[in-house]
Amino acid sequence: MTTIIDGKAVAKKVNAATQTAVAELEQQGIKPGIAVIIVGEDPASQIYVRNKNRKATKLGMHSVVRQLPVTTTQAELLSIIAEYNSDASIHGILVQSPLPKQINEPLITMAIDPKKDVDGFHPTNMGKLITNFPGNYPVANTPRGIMTLLAEYGIDPAGKQAVVIGRSTIVGKPMAALLTNANATVTVAHSRTKDLKALARTADILVVATGIAHLITGADIKPGATVIDVGMDRDADGKLVGDVDFDSAQGVAGFITPVPGGVGPMTIATLMQTTVELAKWSDLSE
Ligand code: GUN
Repeated sequence: MTTIIDGKAVAKKVNAATQTAVAELEQQGIKPGIAVIIVGEDPASQIYVRNKNRKATKLGMHSVVRQLPVTTTQAELLSIIAEYNSDASIHGILVQSPLPKQINEPLITMAIDPKKDVDGFHPTNMGKLITNFPGNYPVANTPRGIMTLLAEYGIDPAGKQAVVIGRSTIVGKPMAALLTNANATVTVAHSRTKDLKALARTADILVVATGIAHLITGADIKPGATVIDVGMDRDADGKLVGDVDFDSAQGVAGFITPVPGGVGPMTIATLMQTTVELAKWSDLSE
């Protein structure tokens, strides 16, 4: 029997806790604030940014969306980041990816104050994650949300074989670090991996983040494994599907996240959770 992991339900729970935290901070005169910067008109990015803004406002936060033209220069973007770095009403800064090609993305990531790095992509925060550094720092929201899902369903990574397919900064690398820190034995696979499907079959926990629709099918899954599908792909009919072929995986996997309704709702809920934490931490003396 396969248990379908209900990302919407867990996200609701996370959002309820965030709303409570926002109310508590309000008592101390703090309103958590997020600034989302979007460069250009990529339709998928526009939808994500709109959803983030709506959710932040709904949870009682201060939310700013800064829409910039596709022709924005590196210097202009850096100057806007500097503006939010010194704006006390903003606790989290997010520059929506992908960026136009005249923008040097790593330098943009580096320009965000690590204490306002709501994505957790700054090398300081990534380094802390890799070293399992003690204390408070932001961690990339999609992989962190996946860890929340595992915990909610009583799936302890300790001692398990985990395979992460995808090595991006947004998902694959921080996911591998989180699973390692949680005592899983982790293999990171990618487009150059030989015999990917045989490797996938060794996984007790399989995280798939490739952007390739239906790359993984039931035949590539170890019976009883936990399958986490980070894909948001379109099939030939334009329907939203995952990197995992849900129909053939069902009945083989022990646990599986659906697309939509699995990882997606957790990413935004975790982003809101992180924003509130950054606001809380900003008030702590060091
Ligand atoms: N584009 C797709 N996912 C993300 C994300 O998590 N953060 C940012 N900044 N851009 C994205």
